[in-house]
Amino acid sequence: MVTLKGTLPSLLLGTLLTFTSGALGANPGLVVRITDQGLEYVAQEELLALQKKLHKVTLPNFDGDVRIKHFGSVDYGFHSLNIQSCKLLGSALKLLPNQGLLFSVSDSFIQVTGSWKVRKRILRLNGSFDVKVKGITISVNLLLDSEPSGRPKVAVSSCSSHIHDVEVDISGDLGWLLNLFHNQIESRFRKALKSRICEIIQDSVTSELQPYLQTLPVTTKIDHLAGLDYSLMGAPQATDQTLDVMFKGEIFSRDDRSPVAFLAPVMNLPEEHSRMVYFAISNYAFNTASLVYHKAGFLNFTITDDMIPPDSNIRLNTKSFRAFVPRIARLYPNTNLELQGAVVSAPCLNFSPGNLSTAAQMEIEAFVLLPNSVKEPVFRLGVATNVSAMLTFNTSKITGFLEPEKIQVELKESKVGLFSVELLEALLNYYLLNNFYPKVNDKLAEGFPLPLLKKIQLYDPILQIHKLVESGHAESQIRGNMDTES
Ligand SMILES: *[C@@H]1O[C@H](CO)[C@@H](O)[C@H](O)[C@H]1NC(C)=O
Ligand SMILES: *[C@@H]1O[C@H](CO)[C@@H](O)[C@H](O)[C@H]1NC(C)=O
Ligand SMILES: *[C@@H]1O[C@H](CO)[C@@H](O)[C@H](O)[C@H]1NC(C)=O
Ligand SMILES: *[C@@H]1O[C@H](CO)[C@@H](O)[C@H](O)[C@H]1NC(C)=O
Ligand SMILES: *[C@@H]1O[C@H](CO)[C@@H](O)[C@H](O)[C@H]1NC(C)=O
Repeated sequence: MVTLKGTLPSLLLGTLLTFTSGALGANPGLVVRITDQGLEYVAQEELLALQKKLHKVTLPNFDGDVRIKHFGSVDYGFHSLNIQSCKLLGSALKLLPNQGLLFSVSDSFIQVTGSWKVRKRILRLNGSFDVKVKGITISVNLLLDSEPSGRPKVAVSSCSSHIHDVEVDISGDLGWLLNLFHNQIESRFRKALKSRICEIIQDSVTSELQPYLQTLPVTTKIDHLAGLDYSLMGAPQATDQTLDVMFKGEIFSRDDRSPVAFLAPVMNLPEEHSRMVYFAISNYAFNTASLVYHKAGFLNFTITDDMIPPDSNIRLNTKSFRAFVPRIARLYPNTNLELQGAVVSAPCLNFSPGNLSTAAQMEIEAFVLLPNSVKEPVFRLGVATNVSAMLTFNTSKITGFLEPEKIQVELKESKVGLFSVELLEALLNYYLLNNFYPKVNDKLAEGFPLPLLKKIQLYDPILQIHKLVESGHAESQIRGNMDTES
């Protein structure tokens, strides 16, 4: 197994959003599942990389002596060994359940050319040779694990190679003579190549593949407030058909990271193998994000009169309120009001069959703006709103979009008498639709980056939303095709 470096692998992508009401525990927020198909693709890439690498290998010179009947002992040397061609044909990357991966190469061929020389007292002769190494098989077991840093780790647990046949063809003045000893020479080639193959593989894994896996981000900055934790939650898990890599998938506050008070739900991934790679995400990432932004006051807002469109028949001043809250105009004639709003608690992403939704409970306090920057509270409103959430994604990010439904406003407390909140409802709707949700949607559009290794490109993604009920049956699914990246 060499490395994906230097190539631009493209993997078919499917994304699953999975929510379960099952058990809670130290569960991943994101699972990357690589299927047989994905591994087959990786094996092809690896094979090409290994072939390139073998091509560049330098083989050691070797020498020795042979005793020839009626001739005595002859010293020979082989040098300037050069791999002319290297064709690795069959490769496979198989899952070893509960262990790791088995990378194998079969039916491969290497051709080496070089020079020979022979010395017998003052006699010096030389010539060239050609070696065909046929039927090379390689078998490498790879152990997958995670480092304490949360990065993936790979190591070769065993490597073996076999060479079925070596044919040496020697030309030059004494070539016929050396051809008599081709067995001895061939076995030396066999040995030299055989040990080099596993050395190369071992070296590629430690000096290229492992550093390459380190390019997987463990934490990523989302913005000045939030970061995303991608650390592995354990060793990647190999089953018969899939390799699952479990990531934390938690969004945290960059200023003040504290443990999350809720647990990620169990994800039961559907048995699907048609794509090369699946990213499964539970609502954990969204809910931890909600917590961070809520705590940072991102969901707090202030509405003042200058934000109300000029043609509005209701203004944020006591005069405009006179008709339906007579006392406010009497107590504070010609005074502007300010509404201060906050989302009561961090909204959670919920699942309703086939749809994602969230519900926001807001509390809005109204103040009259008195001279000397004195703000006096006059009434308090409760606002309930159901919001449907949409998720879209491209090949590098998952992005979201909220579409609010009609809001419900209720008067919670008033220092200026009870009044109907209908007129305020229109004003609040206007504000939320034109200011609040666009701001949240801009943030959601920045998206949630997928954990990808350097130089990996995904194409032809499909998004599916799965609701897995307790029994484990898929209840519904949404599919959408995204643009294919050229
Ligand atoms: C053989 O030796 C001669 C003289 O040293 C040299 O010119 C020639 O290139 C050599 N041939 C090979 C095939 O090494
Ligand atoms: C957001 O508003 C709420 C209610 O007014 C307040 O308790 C909270 O401190 C505010 N958060 C920030 C970060 O300003
Ligand atoms: C999901 O929500 C959207 C927006 O509210 C709605 O148009 C659509 O019909 C809903 N889909 C399902 C399956 O309920
Ligand atoms: C939100 O949806 C829930 C469940 O469908 C419903 O009971 C509630 O009245 C809705 N609230 C609003 C403000 O529409
Ligand atoms: C994916 O979407 C994000 C956010 O909309 C954008 O910044 C990024 O360039 C897009 N990437 C691709 C590959 O289209």
